[in-house]
Parts: sequence; structure tokens; C-alpha cells
Amino acid sequence: MGRGDSMERLQKVIAATGYCSRRKAEELIRTGHVTVNGNLVTELGTKVNSTAKIEIDGEKINKENKEYYLLYKPRQVITSTYDDKKRKTVVDLIDTDVRIYPVGRLDYDTTGALILTNDGEFANLLMHPKNKVDKVYIAKIRGILYPDMIKTLERGVIIDGVKTARSKIKVKKYDKKADTSMVEVTIHEGKHHQVKKMFESVGKDVIKLHREKIAFLDLRGLVSGDYRRLNPKEVKQLYHLTNDKKRLEHGKRGNR
Ligand code: URA
Repeated sequence: MGRGDSMERLQKVIAATGYCSRRKAEELIRTGHVTVNGNLVTELGTKVNSTAKIEIDGEKINKENKEYYLLYKPRQVITSTYDDKKRKTVVDLIDTDVRIYPVGRLDYDTTGALILTNDGEFANLLMHPKNKVDKVYIAKIRGILYPDMIKTLERGVIIDGVKTARSKIKVKKYDKKADTSMVEVTIHEGKHHQVKKMFESVGKDVIKLHREKIAFLDLRGLVSGDYRRLNPKEVKQLYHLTNDKKRLEHGKRGNR
């Protein structure tokens, strides 16, 4: 994403600072909250260069450097920037002065890979289901997952009235003594409690849930509670991944 001195849409520049989402930025522009180099801007198409002074309600926004982290989320940490019950949050685990936030969510009792950033555009691209970024989970479930259940899960099941997209299910291990199975689940959506609800729909309880991978990023070299910065190549690759998917979608639409 070499921005250099090229002109970018104002709402995109605001969202990329992590100040708010692009949609919220559009609303702020339209409703007269944003000035560029001292001039009020209400036109959504307005483009600005990297040196433009952007203010929202008179306050200069910080075009801070983008930061990207991969965290190995432990159990009993909340995926949020703040918790009113004073529980530890994923942001508390990362040592930075920048206002970062999690990309998507893992439940309080789920462990594994979580990306945090202050790059709003990047976060939106990764989270949008149409960009089909695969997430791989390992679920420990009670009992045996039979072939008909696997088929049902792979085709998609109804969760809260909406059908899930296709998924990939692989039984890795069955522990006869404990009567539990380890199952690998690959999905690209992020509905609330999706994996647990998918299993619930075929009558299975998830005892433990762990996210092993987000796209090509795994937790190699990290232990629970550790994190590392993503390197620029990884960030670029993730951007490319979502852009390529977007291009494919457009292509499909054009061919209809
Ligand atoms: N699906 C769930 O049910 N929980 C998570 O934390 C992530 C995916």
C-alpha cells in the first residue's frame, strides 16, 4: 500500500488512521464536521494528499503510523478495547501507545490467533465476509462427529436465522477414553459464536476452541499471551489477498 504522495479519498484517509470506520468518516464529512487545511469539506469525493491537515470538530487527527500485531490470545481475556467489568482485554496485552483494536473477535474462553491494528481500512477488508479470508479453528467436541454431520456442517447450517457459507471440516482425532473429538474447522465468516453454534446445530458441544490460523498466518514461535508485529510483507500479502478476492467478485458480477 505505498501511498507516497498520491491523492486519496478523504474518508479513506480518516478511516486509515484508525479514528473511525470509513462509513462513519463519510457521515462526519457529509454533516460538516471535517476541515482540510482549514477549509470545510462536505463533498464525499474530495481527495487529499498525505500532507493535508485534517481536523474533525477542530481537532487535528493523528495520521499515526500503522501498527499490526498478531497475538496468541489466552483464555479469560476479552476481545475488546475496554471492559466495564474490568476484565483484562486483548489490548492490555500489547505494549503500544497507539490506539489499536482487534480485527474480529474471539470469545472470552477461546484461544489463538488474533490480529490487532490501528488501520481501519485493513481491519474492514479482513473482516468482510465477501473477501473470504480463511480462519482455521481446532474445536474439541464431546462425542463423535459422524459423516452426515460433517456433510451438513460443510454445506452450511442455519444460525440465528441465517445460513452459514460452506466450510471445511476435518476430524483430526477421536479419544475413545474421554469420548471427545478434535475437529479442524475452516470458515471465512465471523458470525457471533459461529463455530460453537455450528456444532450446536448438529447436537455437539464445544469443550474447547482454538484459532490456529488466519489466512497464511499461524502462531509458530508464539506461546499463549505472546505477540509479534506483522512485517510489511505480511501486511501487503493480506491486503493483496483481500484485493484479489474483491477483483474476482467484480469479475463475476461483470460476467452475469
Ligand atoms: N466461533 C466461536 O464460536 N467462538 C469464537 O471465539 C470464534 C469463532
